[in-house]
Amino acid sequence: MQTIRRLEDLREALAAFRSAGERVALVPTMGALHDGHMALVEAAKRAADRVVVSIFVNPRQFGPNEDFDQYPRKEAADSRLLTNAGTDILWLPPVDVMYPQGFATNVSVTGVSEVLDGAHRPGHFDGVATVVSKLFNQVRPDIALFGEKDWQQLAVIRRMTADLNIDVEIQGVVTQREDDGLALSSRNAYLMPDERARAVALPRALGAAERAIVEGGDPEAALAQARDSLTAAGFDVDYVVLADAETLGSAEPGRPWRLLAAARIGSTRLIDNIPVTTQDPG
Ligand code: PAF
Repeated sequence: MQTIRRLEDLREALAAFRSAGERVALVPTMGALHDGHMALVEAAKRAADRVVVSIFVNPRQFGPNEDFDQYPRKEAADSRLLTNAGTDILWLPPVDVMYPQGFATNVSVTGVSEVLDGAHRPGHFDGVATVVSKLFNQVRPDIALFGEKDWQQLAVIRRMTADLNIDVEIQGVVTQREDDGLALSSRNAYLMPDERARAVALPRALGAAERAIVEGGDPEAALAQARDSLTAAGFDVDYVVLADAETLGSAEPGRPWRLLAAARIGSTRLIDNIPVTTQDPG
């Protein structure tokens, strides 16, 4: 695996792949890699000849009171995992390569960015869209892979890529979970043991709501029940919603639906989402 920190070196390495006619996949990450990220790398290897993984803890997607300083940084361990997984390039841009002096551009996706996490974390998706569009321009991948755990992020990136005619295929990869159902996340490392035990209430609440809706129950009642069960488990709930899977607007018959939730346990904010397999309540 080549570890690259300069844009010129990245371009040179990628030019060699392209002149050999090889297809390139990009897996953008913020590091602190876990099995969820490694599933992205595995899917990338199946989808392309060469895999580039970027690690950049992007300051622009953290709010002023969020965990940017505290966010886990594990470069040596991440590098070992990626080498063992057969990654071709680890792209580690320094902050001044991403945001040089005088940087003045913001990529903002309206609509799908403005609801749910966008409403709770102002500026977050602008930060994501800006850094992901930079990564797309730096790597120019044929395909880029993102975890479905950040469903809204995936929807924002799909919208941005289509709107800006960026020539990259976006592939979502199914959420990886612990044995008890908790979605893998770098932020799970913040959970105290008792919080970790209670955190399983999040996937359980979503699963119960999904079953109730699929069985023809009133979606609003199912969502209220999910909120109550999260509150009972000690969560402070930001939202539990049923939404259109693509636009995140209201869930209409005949369209794919998604259940999404965000809730805080102690000082850790967790998100999760699942598909709703039957979408037409009649
Ligand atoms: O999902 C993440 O880890 C980040 O939001 C991403 C896509 C790497 C952009 O910084």
